[in-house]
Amino acid sequence: MTISEHVLVTGGAGFIGTHLCKALLDRGARVTAVDSLAGERLPALARLTQHERFAFLEHDITIPLVWDTPVTAVMHLASPIGPALVRDHPVQTLLAGSAGTVNALEIARRHKARIVVVSSAEVYGDPEVQPQPETYTGNVDPAGPMSGYQEAKRFLEAMTTAYRREHGVNTGIVRPFNVYGPGMLTSDKRVVAAFVVTALAGQELVVNGPDAVRSLCYVDDFVAGLIAMMDSDIPGPLNIGAPDGTSIGELANLVVATVGSGTVRIGKSAAVGGAARCPDITQASQLLGWVPTTSLQQGVSATVAGMRTMIEAQATVTFDVPTAWRTLIPQGQVLQCRADSIGSALRWLTETYPVLAPRLLSPQGQLVPWTNVYIAQDNVRDLDGLHTGLRGEVTLTMLPAMAGG
Ligand SMILES: NC(=O)c1ccc[n+]([C@@H]2O[C@H](COP(=O)([O-])OP(=O)(O)OC[C@H]3O[C@@H](n4cnc5c(N)ncnc54)[C@H](O)[C@@H]3O)[C@@H](O)[C@H]2O)c1
Repeated sequence: MTISEHVLVTGGAGFIGTHLCKALLDRGARVTAVDSLAGERLPALARLTQHERFAFLEHDITIPLVWDTPVTAVMHLASPIGPALVRDHPVQTLLAGSAGTVNALEIARRHKARIVVVSSAEVYGDPEVQPQPETYTGNVDPAGPMSGYQEAKRFLEAMTTAYRREHGVNTGIVRPFNVYGPGMLTSDKRVVAAFVVTALAGQELVVNGPDAVRSLCYVDDFVAGLIAMMDSDIPGPLNIGAPDGTSIGELANLVVATVGSGTVRIGKSAAVGGAARCPDITQASQLLGWVPTTSLQQGVSATVAGMRTMIEAQATVTFDVPTAWRTLIPQGQVLQCRADSIGSALRWLTETYPVLAPRLLSPQGQLVPWTNVYIAQDNVRDLDGLHTGLRGEVTLTMLPAMAGG
């Protein structure tokens, strides 16, 4: 078979990226994923690497990429995402949207390839218009708490439009709203993943602002929209999202019913997460013939099944808490979590006990290389670092170098 299609996917190791790579492989394309592996590695990436038409390149797209292999399309998804991450790392977030986007556009320009860049509904900020059509120009504070992400995406759209106008590059812009589905990390703090993980643990889902509304698009539907955009010459921007809003209270009840464990409690604090965003998808339906087809119930069922499998595959990790930490976390004599890598176990530790973050994170907020963690299972020093897989029951012993100072 001659393979005529070669797609370069930046952010291809992420949640949407792995689904996109799989869908492209399924239709016969050759796929190269470029990703800095800034986040945790998803099991889906390991499965993709088994495929003969899939290649993976570890690279930070904010640094120019010398790329000579012809490509027919570039899909630019690489970006930090999630309120906590983008608030803590606005510089890296703005660089991904600016330098990263220019580097992706340059690859498309050199290869005369179609490029689709993935923006966000965050370009609308706190919208004063419901639902949002693409013509709504947004309500964004350039110095607000989410400005690193919002302005990164607004710049991404501006630079993509500039490459089309000035360099004649065949560009397309999509604006996703919330996308969910199997393959989300169990450490993901966004609402669907957080609810599913809590319910699977049989715990209480605390719902602050049950009437707050979100647009929740199942990942397969979203990827179908992305590929339809890739196959077109439409510049966009196009909203790709679920037009029917779901209230957080409704979502919580559906998750608990689907999982069969957990309870819902209405919390006292106000709704978190800003104003409701719901897309007007008239343009996507008229220009691409795209509408989402997965019901919320189907999507939540598939998500629960996927996340249940992911959690079951994780090891129970017990931390051997160093003496030096016992004054910092006096309640933490025996700490346990479920994790599939040293990186995710240590990430859990820093999130659960922020007081430990200075010992576990670099000044840039990245987990530092783990040359001083022992795995009690076989007492082998972890030279591979962050991503070493964990199986079964594991004890992590932190050595004095990590526990001190
Ligand atoms: N998931 C959603 O609900 C949603 C909503 C709106 C927009 N988006 C956008 O969709 C895209 C994908 O989101 P996702 O949910 O798959 O997130 P994700 O965090 O799972 O994936 C993003 C990937 O980008 C990589 N990355 C980050 N910075 C990079 C860099 N400088 N160089 C190379 N790789 C880098 C990360 O390692 C990660 O694998 C992002 O651009 C995001 O802004 C997603």
